[in-house]
Amino acid sequence: MSIVSRPSVGGSLLGGSIVLPANACTHALPPRVTRPWSGEPGTAGTVAVVGAGKMGLPLAAQFAGHGWDVIAVDVQQAVVDAINEGRSHIGDEPGVADLVAEAHAAGRLRATLDGAAAAAAADVVVLIVPVMLDADHQPDYGYMDAAVAAIAPGVHAGSLVIFETTLPVGDTRMRFAPQLEAVTGLRADEDFLVAFSPERLYSGAALRNLATYPKLVGGLGPRSTQRAAAFYDGVLDAEVVAMSSAEAAEFSKLADTTYRDVNIALANEFAAYADRVGVDIREVISAANSQPYSHIHQPGLGVGGHCIPVYPHFLLSRAPELSIVARSRDVNDGQIQIALDEIRARVGGLEGASVLVLGLTYREGVHELAYSRALPLIDALVAAGAHVSAHDPLLTDEEIRARGAEPYAWGSASNAQAIVTQTADARWRELDAAWFPRLAVLVDGRNSLSAVALPAGVAYRGIGTGPRT
Ligand SMILES: NC(=O)c1ccc[n+]([C@@H]2O[C@H](COP(=O)([O-])OP(=O)(O)OC[C@H]3O[C@@H](n4cnc5c(N)ncnc54)[C@H](O)[C@@H]3O)[C@@H](O)[C@H]2O)c1
Repeated sequence: MSIVSRPSVGGSLLGGSIVLPANACTHALPPRVTRPWSGEPGTAGTVAVVGAGKMGLPLAAQFAGHGWDVIAVDVQQAVVDAINEGRSHIGDEPGVADLVAEAHAAGRLRATLDGAAAAAAADVVVLIVPVMLDADHQPDYGYMDAAVAAIAPGVHAGSLVIFETTLPVGDTRMRFAPQLEAVTGLRADEDFLVAFSPERLYSGAALRNLATYPKLVGGLGPRSTQRAAAFYDGVLDAEVVAMSSAEAAEFSKLADTTYRDVNIALANEFAAYADRVGVDIREVISAANSQPYSHIHQPGLGVGGHCIPVYPHFLLSRAPELSIVARSRDVNDGQIQIALDEIRARVGGLEGASVLVLGLTYREGVHELAYSRALPLIDALVAAGAHVSAHDPLLTDEEIRARGAEPYAWGSASNAQAIVTQTADARWRELDAAWFPRLAVLVDGRNSLSAVALPAGVAYRGIGTGPRT
């Protein structure tokens, strides 16, 4: 027994900090190639991966690494060219560049713009092009409708078509299978097979996640489920979970991501209360999560990226009665108001205030601006008449200007009166208050800077961190 006098204020037990071990590969490689692919264990065929982006390229590389012939399909010539030269065009994704080079050298990976030809040559077609939101928060199917229309003429008797892109519940069966039937004249789940299998990877850990996270698979019927599960069993080292329907598999991805959004909204409300009672929410969460049924995530300036803020809207588009889901979206999107209020109070208004925003991508280390909360924060500051500068180690000056801020050169003198961190980049810890002689407040939007030294007279504002000690 030991007595801990001060509860840890580190990351929560869950909330993104858990590291699961990757499963070792137990496949007998190379598999026997069959044409057409029979679905038998230990055999491989040809797979087309439609959408060779941040998630599609790691998938293509993984499938090729397990003995499949892979045809990557994309609408961007530069993507097709890079793959046909054996190069990865996606940023920092450990292991992918080497796998792409190896698969290309072995003649198992090529790319094309021609979706119909790829589908005609393939036993399996995996679709992983984005479905986003439109201005009314409804699913925007533009890319996926185009991808399905492109492959449809090549889908043939015996094809297995798998949707990995996150979709609203029911879309695999009610929206996309009929589109394929209309073009091919074939019957889904009879002449060709259709399944949904959510992509659950985390940017920056794609291959590791592929070897770790159970792969959920739900078909239009048992034959579709069984064939899709057989495919994944041959190409992944993780456990494959055959679900009862495509709808159950679709819902599981929305449930997982929405759970995280709701959890973060709860952490944000707890943080506001912690501020009111003068305690540090990190100490509270860490202590609460030492009980194994508590998995409270961390509060912050909001939730970005094209998963967690998007998929609750997929649910709400079909089930507007999910009031906790809707409320959580509002809470998380409202968090940037903390920064605006704090600057207003410390600088004496936003009009004419000089504000530096650190971190424009939705999260540190990922070159992705989709739904980043830095963007509405900058817009609100500019609309209120503030002068906004910004820095992000992943973005060029042009990219920063395009988002409405003046680029700030890291380490240069600045007249910023307020600094807001929107990511938890480790670089921010090198921040030196001497660079900012007019600084009045540091808003630490990810609670990563509580140890940074600030001169007397410069206020520190975390998210639920209470008074600074
Ligand atoms: N990025 C993530 O962190 C992540 C995590 C889990 C799941 N996902 C899922 O993966 C999907 C794709 O995400 P991503 O990050 O790979 O996107 P991405 O933007 O990096 O890549 C998408 C690719 O699809 C291509 N494309 C667009 N329309 C096409 C079409 N009609 N035919 C062929 N190619 C087309 C684009 O040119 C691009 O190369 C997401 O919508 C989501 O459902 C993404």
